[in-house]
Amino acid sequence: MSSYYVTTPIYYVNDKPHIGHAYTTVLADVLTRFHALFGEDSYMLTGTDEHGQKVQKAAQARNMPPREHCDETVVRFQELWKKLGIRNNDFIRTTEERHTKVVRKILQDLYDRGLIYKAEYTGHYCVPCERYFTGKDLLEGGLCPDCKRPTAQLMESNYFFKMGQYQEWLIDYIQSHPGFIQPEYRANETLGFLRKELGDLCISRPKSRLSWGIELPFDSEYVCYVWFDALINYISAIGYGSDDAKFGKWWPNAHHLIGKDILTTHTVYWPTMLKAIGVSMPKSVFAHGWWRSGEEKMSKSLGNVVNPMDMIGIFGVDAFRYCLMSEMVLGQDASFTEESFIKRYNSDLANDLGNMLSRAVKLTIKCFDSKIPAPGEYGEVDKELMNLALSAAAPLRESVENMRLDRGVEQVLNVVRAANRYMEKTAPWTLAKQGDMTRLGTVLYTASETLRIVSGLLLPVMPEKMEKLRITLGMSPADAARAEYTRLSSWGLLVPGSSVNDIDALFPRVLPKENAASVPAPSAKAEEKKEAKTETVAVQGGKTVTIDEFFRTQLKTAKVLEAEKVEGADKLLKLKIDAGGETRTLVAGVAKYYTPEQMIGRVIVIVANLKPAKIRGIESQGMLLAAKTGDQLRLVTVDGGDFPDGASVG
Ligand code: MSP
Repeated sequence: MSSYYVTTPIYYVNDKPHIGHAYTTVLADVLTRFHALFGEDSYMLTGTDEHGQKVQKAAQARNMPPREHCDETVVRFQELWKKLGIRNNDFIRTTEERHTKVVRKILQDLYDRGLIYKAEYTGHYCVPCERYFTGKDLLEGGLCPDCKRPTAQLMESNYFFKMGQYQEWLIDYIQSHPGFIQPEYRANETLGFLRKELGDLCISRPKSRLSWGIELPFDSEYVCYVWFDALINYISAIGYGSDDAKFGKWWPNAHHLIGKDILTTHTVYWPTMLKAIGVSMPKSVFAHGWWRSGEEKMSKSLGNVVNPMDMIGIFGVDAFRYCLMSEMVLGQDASFTEESFIKRYNSDLANDLGNMLSRAVKLTIKCFDSKIPAPGEYGEVDKELMNLALSAAAPLRESVENMRLDRGVEQVLNVVRAANRYMEKTAPWTLAKQGDMTRLGTVLYTASETLRIVSGLLLPVMPEKMEKLRITLGMSPADAARAEYTRLSSWGLLVPGSSVNDIDALFPRVLPKENAASVPAPSAKAEEKKEAKTETVAVQGGKTVTIDEFFRTQLKTAKVLEAEKVEGADKLLKLKIDAGGETRTLVAGVAKYYTPEQMIGRVIVIVANLKPAKIRGIESQGMLLAAKTGDQLRLVTVDGGDFPDGASVG
C-alpha cells in the first residue's frame, strides 16, 4: 500500500487561531481522508511553533513564563481542530523533548562537520519576521522585504549554517523536479529569489536578546533560531533519528502545505537543511493563497480577522469545511465574505443536496413503508443518471491529486444537480399518485443509489453530515462512515428492503443576518390594497436582485385543504393550507377568479416567511403567488400538479 504524509505549518502560539489556520488544517484533513479513500495509507501532522521572539513577547505581555503561556494557548488550537473534525495522527509541539532532542542532535552534527560556524555579523533585523536581511535585500527606507516594517541594524556574534554552498544544487533540484514546488509559479518565485547570491543562514540568537528557544548544544550562550528549530518538526515527529521504520514509511511521500508567505523558508532553508543532513527532499511543497476579508488584507490591526468559531456557529462544522474547500481555488487568494459563504451554502447544500435527499427519502417513507424499493428495469433516463454517478469518482480523484479541490467538489455537485433534474423529469410524485409502484421503485432506487455515491465522494469534506445522510438512506453506521473507492464506482450496493430514516433538514437554509423578521408589517392602507389586488412578485426592468436577496423570500409549495369566502369582502377567500406538516391560514384576494371549491386540493406556491398580518380580523400567515394581467388572474402552481407540500421553490 502506498503512503501519503501531509503536514500543515506549525502555528505560533502567540495568538488565537484564525480562518487562515483553519483553512490549511481542514485542507490537510480533507486531503488525508481523500487519500485514504483512494486506498493509500495516510498520515497527517499538525502542531505548534512555540519558541522565538513572538511567543516570548506574547508571554511577557501576559506577565507569564513562556512555557505556561504555551500550555495555555496550545489548547485553543487543539480544541478547534477537534471541533472541526480534524483527524490528525499527531500533534507536535516544538517544546516537547522528542523534538528538542532531534534539533540539538542535528545542530551538533552540522557543527561537528563544519557546516555551522561562528562569525561576527552586522545585519538588518526584522523583529516581527525574526529574520536578518542584508542591506541589498531591504526595501527603500530600510524596510523589511517581507512585512514591509522598519528593520533594526544589529551587530553581534552568531552561528551560521553554510546554506550558500547549496545554491547551485538547489536551483538544479527545483528545475529537475517540476512537482516539487507547487503551483508552478511559486517554483518560479523561488528560482527568482535564487538568482541573487544565496548567503549563509544565521541560526542562533544570543540569550542576552532572546532566551526562549532551544539552547545550542555547543554554546550555552545562544538559542537556536526559531525557523531552524520549527522546520525540523516535519521529521522529528515521524521518528527521524529515533524510529527508522516509521520515518522510512512516511518521509518518502511527504507533502507540505503552507501559506504563500512562508515560501522561502520552506523552499530554500528547509531543502538545504535536509541536504546537509543527508535526508531526501519532501515530495512537494504546496503554497496556497491568502484569505482576504472581502477585498482587504485580513489583519488584526484592521480588525477584520475571521474567527472560525463564529463561522461554525453560523454554518455548522461540515458546511464550513465545505465552503472553505469550494470557495478557494488552491494557490490563489480568495475573498471571504459571510454573504458568499451563505450563498454557497444555500445553493449547494440546502437547495441541491438537501432537497434531493428529502425528495427521495420522503417518497420512500410514504410509498414504500420506509423501505428502499427494489429497482425494476432501468430505462434510458435512469441509465443516464446512473452512468453520470458511476463516472464521478475518477475526475474527482484527478482533481484532488492535482490540488484542485474546488473543481473536484463542483464535479460532484453537478451529479447532484443532474439528480434533481432527473426527479423533475421522472416525476415520482405523479407515479405515486398513479400507483405505478414498479416504475416508482426504479426511480427512487436510482435516486437513492446516486445519493449513496455522491455522499461517499463528499465524505472527506463533510464526514459527519455525509455519514448522517448515508444512515438516512438505510446504510449501517459502519458502512455509512466507510467509503471505499471501488464502492463509489459500483452500482446497486444499497440493499432493497433496508429501512430509511426520516430526518430533519440536513442543511437548514441560512438567512443573512439582516433578514430575520425584516419584512415590514403591512399598513392598514396596504391591507386594503391587498384585498383588491393579489400581489405578484416581479423584477422591474433595470432593478435586479442578488440571489441572496431573492432567497430571503422563502417560497414553498402548499396544498389548499379548506377554502371559504370572507364575510363582507367579496374579493377575499380564507384558505386553510398544508405547508409541509404545518397548517396555516391565508387570506387571499382571489375570490373573483376562483370559487372555494376550485381552490380545494390545489398545490399553490406561498411566501412562507412573510410576517403575519391581520386582514379583516383574520391572521393571514403568508401570501400566495399568482400572475395577473388585465382582469385575468392565475395561481402560480407546480408543474405536474401533485407535489409534496412544503417543498422549497426557487
Ligand atoms: N510558525 C510559522 C510556520 C512554521 S512551519 C515550520 C508560521 N506560523 S503562523 O501561525 O504565523 O502562520 C501559519 C500559517 O497561516 C502560514 O501558512 C500562513 O500563510 C497562514 N496564514 C496566515 N494568515 C492567512 C490568511 N489570511 N489566509 C490564509 N492563510 C494565512 O508562519
